[in-house]
Amino acid sequence: MIMQKKIVVTGGAGFIGSHVVRLFVNKYPNYQIINLDKLTYAGNLENLVDVQDKVNYQFAKLDITDRESIFNFFENEKPDAVIHLAAESHVDRSILNPIEFVMTNVMGTINLMDACRKIWSDSLQSNDHLFYHVSTDEVYGTLGESGKFTEHTSYDPHSPYSASKASSDHFVRAYFDTYKFPVKVSNCSNNFGTHHFPEKLIPLCINNIKNNKALPIYGKGENIRDWLWVEDHARAIDTIFHQGVVGETYNIGGNNEWKNIDLVKLLCEIMDEQLARPQGTSTQLITYITDRAGHDFRYAIDSSKLQNNLGWKPTDDFKNALSETIRWYLQNESWLNNVTSGNYQSYYEHQYKNK
Ligand code: NAD
Ligand code: DAU
Repeated sequence: MIMQKKIVVTGGAGFIGSHVVRLFVNKYPNYQIINLDKLTYAGNLENLVDVQDKVNYQFAKLDITDRESIFNFFENEKPDAVIHLAAESHVDRSILNPIEFVMTNVMGTINLMDACRKIWSDSLQSNDHLFYHVSTDEVYGTLGESGKFTEHTSYDPHSPYSASKASSDHFVRAYFDTYKFPVKVSNCSNNFGTHHFPEKLIPLCINNIKNNKALPIYGKGENIRDWLWVEDHARAIDTIFHQGVVGETYNIGGNNEWKNIDLVKLLCEIMDEQLARPQGTSTQLITYITDRAGHDFRYAIDSSKLQNNLGWKPTDDFKNALSETIRWYLQNESWLNNVTSGNYQSYYEHQYKNK
């Protein structure tokens, strides 16, 4: 088959990246999809077992902070486009080790853009090329009780993670303004779904409820997040990649705000039902602990630009998507056990290294 496009997806072994890779590999058999990932603790090739043998899928183990290797790889592969998701993504880790976030999220992004500029230099404005930068709503800082983030909200990051993502967003836009480098940016709210590393609130609580362990709630549990199903995010990325305007930014959100404590109580209720435990069993695991430093109070996204201009919409059945997500974790016990024991990290050696 003649491939129409070669697309590098960075961070494709991570949570959102694996959903984006799966969607593109299955929906576009005439696109060659290269998953470029360093396989940090957050990268798990078991997330992609269902597509790993498809002819239009390839995996490349590479670190985006390694400028020379990235340049060589791009010179050899000459991709048409990049969807950039590789990042250090966990706020709590950024508080403990900020420099790693600067290296990957800022320097890594610049390395990728410079490698693309080099190979696309003769055809930068041909519409054949695109650097799609996947970012977060956390760059906008925090909201009070009302209001939503729009694409025009000023940047005001509060954690080392969000500061590193904000910085990378600024570089991406600066490359568009300075070099006419073809970019699109999207800023998304909190995702939930399958294949999510159990350090983030929802998969952590699912795993802990399953194992009768404490559910750690930061502060009073009053902080609010706008939860979006990861498959809706992958669909939004597909829509923006194909129909979005070069140089523009799109906000993506679920229009689905939950206080942390209410969300955890809902998880307890659904899991008691699915595990056939008496209602009320799992809420007893809730444990209030010291708040996260610099904890943003509320995030909420206004995604009307994406909805009105490009026709994307999030699912309107959050509880069903959450129930199905929980069911997946309970039915895929070996995925959860491998990820919590660390076994997933040897999957690459077994499946790829000697091929
Ligand atoms: P994740 O932590 O699950 O996955 C990150 C992936 O990047 C992993 O596969 C990891 O191995 C890879 N990676 C990390 N450092 C690398 C490096 N130096 N070189 C190559 N690969 C490297 O993250 P996620 O939650 O899937 O988030 C993906 C992207 O989406 C990130 O850019 C994040 O900022 C953004 N985002 C996430 C959310 C969310 O709710 N999870 C919401 C909005 C935006
Ligand atoms: O908003 C988008 C962002 O969402 C992404 O850019 C980040 O990559 C992603 O990690 C996520 O950041 P959050 O900090 O909002 O997600 P997290 O799951 O870590 O926390 C969600 C909320 O739950 C937050 O208010 C902190 C709280 N929390 C989290 C954990 C891990 C707890 O109360 N207890 C916990 O143990």
